Amino acid sequence: MSLDHYVSSDVDPVTTSPEKYRPHYHYTARKGWLSDPNGMVYFDGEFHLFYQHDDYVNVFGAMSWGHAVSKDLLHWQELPKAIIPDEHLGMCFSGCMVVDKNNSSGLSKNTLVGFYTSELPKQQQSMFYSLDNGRTFRKYNHNPVIPNSAGMSKDFRDPKVFWYEEQSLWIMALAGPERIEFWSSTNLIDWQLQSWFGEGHGAHEGEWECPDLRYMPIDGDSNNCVWVLIVSVNPGGPNGGSGTQYFIGDFLEVDGKLRFITKQTDVKWLDWGSDNYAGVGWTNLQDSSFGNRVFSIGWMNNWTYAYKTPTNQWRGTMTMIRELKLETFYEELVLTCCPAPIYKELVGDELANLDNVSLNKPTNIGSDLSASRIQIDFDTTQTDHVCVELSNTLGQLTRIGYCKSDGIFYVDRRKSGNQDFAEGFSGIHIAKATRTYNTITMDIFIDRCSVEVFFNNGEYAMSELIFPEEPLSIFKPVAQSSINPTNVNIRKMREITRL
Ligand code: FRU
Repeated sequence: MSLDHYVSSDVDPVTTSPEKYRPHYHYTARKGWLSDPNGMVYFDGEFHLFYQHDDYVNVFGAMSWGHAVSKDLLHWQELPKAIIPDEHLGMCFSGCMVVDKNNSSGLSKNTLVGFYTSELPKQQQSMFYSLDNGRTFRKYNHNPVIPNSAGMSKDFRDPKVFWYEEQSLWIMALAGPERIEFWSSTNLIDWQLQSWFGEGHGAHEGEWECPDLRYMPIDGDSNNCVWVLIVSVNPGGPNGGSGTQYFIGDFLEVDGKLRFITKQTDVKWLDWGSDNYAGVGWTNLQDSSFGNRVFSIGWMNNWTYAYKTPTNQWRGTMTMIRELKLETFYEELVLTCCPAPIYKELVGDELANLDNVSLNKPTNIGSDLSASRIQIDFDTTQTDHVCVELSNTLGQLTRIGYCKSDGIFYVDRRKSGNQDFAEGFSGIHIAKATRTYNTITMDIFIDRCSVEVFFNNGEYAMSELIFPEEPLSIFKPVAQSSINPTNVNIRKMREITRL
């Protein structure tokens, strides 16, 4: 079959000229469409980031794996696409990459082995590899390694593989329409189905996609670990459309099969904003200076309007890289989500502090606010509602706050700028607070087309795209009574390089 059918004819080929919304410190491809992050792995001094990509169109096109490398997770060099569609098995959907340290595959010791979903004639799992530190890639000759056999679901995708020390096995998590399957292998090539998880658990309004299973310490205690299963769901996210949920449980052998089990009955969201989807974690980070930390990255978008966001030469940006931790808050275990510590390197000059902002009064910070970090804390004992307003000279405004009586944290982007390009974009998005807060901390990262908010040190995260038509420049803290913020610190964020 010709590959022409992958290219939408109604979209102009994209060019490389810059645009006002291109982020300063988030990863975007040089041109074209970018969606799910794929195959993040650390190997031999480099962090690899792959992603769903088509550099010819700015909508979902001939899905290939774009590729970038970094020495510090901040500055990136874009490399040629790692894999592209082929006539036999079609496009290359989402997946992962591992380092085959013991040569389980027989390809060679320390081969980078990747897995992705092929889509023709049905979704099935394929393998590819690199023998030269991720500079060139070859598809495995006998793909698919897990065929979509008779009776299997048409939705069968997004392989995420990890080494399961306990039984010296490779485990692959895979998404079915509304479940996660676990397959095992000794050689990365022959796979057996172990079990599946999903029925009766979590949000089921849409399809389950892009799983990741992690063994994580509770409150930093490596002698007390549990398993966390991360699952994207679309639609059915916390504020409509795409979202990412997680389950805390155990992964162990029950009745001769390896299974994920959980006592969790509620739905837990990794990010309550509208724009953090398909996120999974880095593999092999333990070999880097970051050790056993868990770093993840998501696609900062939502399938509800992803085709229509108002950019042209490029479309789609990643979230900031997040550090995930399991932390106890009032006996509840929460998968917290904060910017990875690397971003300290980008935090620059102070733009304002407690001495030069006033409650309920706008302060003109200047256009540097459009790539900045705001830390603001409030004592909320005497007030029901606190928020900050971020606006521009056109009066376009994004509001971020907490309301005690409604029990919500929120980001209101109803007047944030260009918001009518797609139905379902404009809105006020909420995170449901699990208790009442008498102190609030907000860590807000602003970039050219986004705000990422971390309330109370990552207990609640909200990632939101915004498209102000002039740069954000005005800051206003707001509270009902005469309480003042207890801390304000606004600093410029430096630009990253994306070669
Ligand atoms: C998630 C997803 C994946 C799929 C990929 C295709 O956004 O739908 O399930 O592999 O996108 O690009």
